[in-house]
This record gives sequence, C-alpha cells and structure tokens, in this order.
Amino acid sequence: MIPTMKSCSSRSRGRSHAEVTAMNHSFLRRMALLAAIGFCCLAGCAEEEPETVRIGVALYQQDDTFLSTIVQNLEQQAKERETADRKLNLNIADGRGSQAAQNEQIERFLKQGYDVVCVNIVDRTAAAVLIDKARASNVPLIFFNREPVEEDLMRWDKVFYVGSDAEQSGLLQGGIVRDVWKADRGLIDRNGDGLLQYVMLEGEPGHQDTLLRTENSIKALTKAWVPVEKLANDSANWQRGQAHTRMAQWLKQIGQQVEVVFANNDDMALGAIDACFEAGMSEDQLPFVVGVDATPPALEAIAEGTLKGTVRNNASAQASAMLDLACALSAGEGLNGIEGLKNGKYIRTEYAVVTPENLDEFLP
Ligand code: BGC
Ligand code: CA
Repeated sequence: MIPTMKSCSSRSRGRSHAEVTAMNHSFLRRMALLAAIGFCCLAGCAEEEPETVRIGVALYQQDDTFLSTIVQNLEQQAKERETADRKLNLNIADGRGSQAAQNEQIERFLKQGYDVVCVNIVDRTAAAVLIDKARASNVPLIFFNREPVEEDLMRWDKVFYVGSDAEQSGLLQGGIVRDVWKADRGLIDRNGDGLLQYVMLEGEPGHQDTLLRTENSIKALTKAWVPVEKLANDSANWQRGQAHTRMAQWLKQIGQQVEVVFANNDDMALGAIDACFEAGMSEDQLPFVVGVDATPPALEAIAEGTLKGTVRNNASAQASAMLDLACALSAGEGLNGIEGLKNGKYIRTEYAVVTPENLDEFLP
C-alpha cells in the first residue's frame, strides 16, 4: 500500500483490508491508464503541432501600390513555403504615414514575441530607436524598401535591409528615353529644337529612391550628350492623384511643350497620363511618359501604349529575400546560405527595363 494514497482517500476509512486493497489496485490501474493516454497524447501532439514562425510586417502606408504588390508576394510565397512541420504566420500593420503609430505597432510585435519584424519605415531617420528596442527584445529586424542610413543598420548584427539600388533604376529609366532619342528623335523632340523638354514627378522628399532616380535618370541622358531642358519638377509623394493634379497644372501653364514626363514611380506616371486625357489629349498627343516599378496597372498601360516604359522593381525577389532571412533567423540558422546577402546586412535585387518590346517577359 502506498501511504500517501491511503491518506488521500478519506472514504477508504472503515472498509475491510481486502476491499481497500482492491480499490487501490483499480485506482492504480486507472492512474496508469491515464498516464498512458497522457503520454500518447503528448507524443501525438508533438508530431502534429507544427512550429509557427510569426513575422510582423509594418508598412509605411498599406495602400501604396508597390507595397501592396510586395505584400501579395509575401503572402503567396509564405504559403508556398509552409510544410507539415512549419507554418508561416504574417501579421501586416498599416502605419498610415505616421511614425508614432508605426512605433506602437512594432512595439506590440516585440512584446508579443514575434520571431522577426519586417519594417517599411515611415521616416528613414527614425530607425535607431527601433533598432535599440528590437535589440533589447532580441527580435531581428528586416528593413525593406525604405532604407535607413548605414550607421543605424550597423547598430546591431541582427538588422538587415532588403531593397534595390535606386541609382540603377534612375539610369535605366533615363536609358529608355535616351535609346528612343538616339534611334528616332522625332518621337520625342516634337518641336524639333534639338532639346529634350521634360518635367519630373518626384516621390516623397527624403526617400532614397526619389533623390537617386531624379538625379540619375537625367544623368543617363547628359552622359550620352542628349541636351535636356527641365520645364518643371515637383513632389507628388508617390501618388497617382497628386501627380494628376500637378500635371494638370503644368499642362495649363506649359501645355504642349512637355515632351517627356519622368516619374519616380509608375503610380505618378499613370497620374500624369490621367491628366493628359482629362485635358483632352488624344493618345498620339501624349508626351513620352516613363515610370518605375512595373506594377500590374503600369504593365497594362504599356500594353495599351500610353506608358512608354518602366523599370521593374522586383517585388517578388524582395519578398523572397525577406522570407529567406526570416526563416533562417527564426530557425537560428547561420546566414551563409542566404542568396545575395552582402556584408551580412544588405540584399539588393536587380532592376530591369520594361518596354513594349519585352513586355511579354514581365506579364504574370
Ligand atoms: C517605389 C514606389 C513606392 C515607394 C514607397 C519605391 O521604391 O518605387 O512606388 O511608393 O517605394 O516607399
Ligand atoms: Ca524639343
């Protein structure tokens, strides 16, 4: 008899020795059975319950067309990477253009013990504080699309950046215009004065892509001795609606003189085209409009002939790089096998020119 069992069962008092022994045997049998069931259940659970990698994704602005393409790619690729043993759980937070709101969203991810947080930072200069918080919680950060300065990224070895080389996008965009100018100048130089008259629709001030695309698109022309004349430039904050408004004003002021519209992204290029049609232009009268990104609506516009070209910002490759890093980091694996990782910090995907000639290669 097990003394503790006897003392547990006050009801055994006053029963015969045989009765008590029989009861205790059946109690023991029941306990053994329960233990066996419990063990099987635990063993079964360990086999069936997959590990879940929790990835927080903080966006500067969810309705940004390019970023929504990144999110679609992340969601689709995360599903494709799931196995019987591993689930990938993405939680998307919209910062709506407010750094304060985004900080709260990221702090929540950190408190809730997410494995990795991907940050599309609202204000590129606000990275240091976030990096220090993530470090205190030991949660790796993957910045993407909006690049913090190198000094900030160097604060911790579990901080990364996934994006592309903005200078390249500017040079390629300018190259589209340069090549047409060289091959068939009449298509661009409508007034035949030997100068390329252009307007520049810029993204958000302070964004690395705004500065570098604006500068390098024109550099591609001047390096090739194409004489250019800037008629106007302004920020339209990456947005189609704002670009529409700017372009409508310019059309009123400088009307037919605009030969080329450089837009730092496709949404703004499409906004400029909207304004031209609204001002009563026919398709033949449209200026030569170029963008960057190769978003689905931009590819459609190239197919229709209203947009003359764009530069593909590889959303799919960027999403894949982010998931490569997130999976390796959450599994505590080394990063040696991560494709394209430079200096243990940066993954930059290649841009590519898209024109009516090679459009087919980029259609989904
Ligand atoms: C894209 C833009 C986008 C911006 C947001 C750029 O790389 O080309 O379309 O609005 O990132 O940060
Ligand atoms: Ca001209």
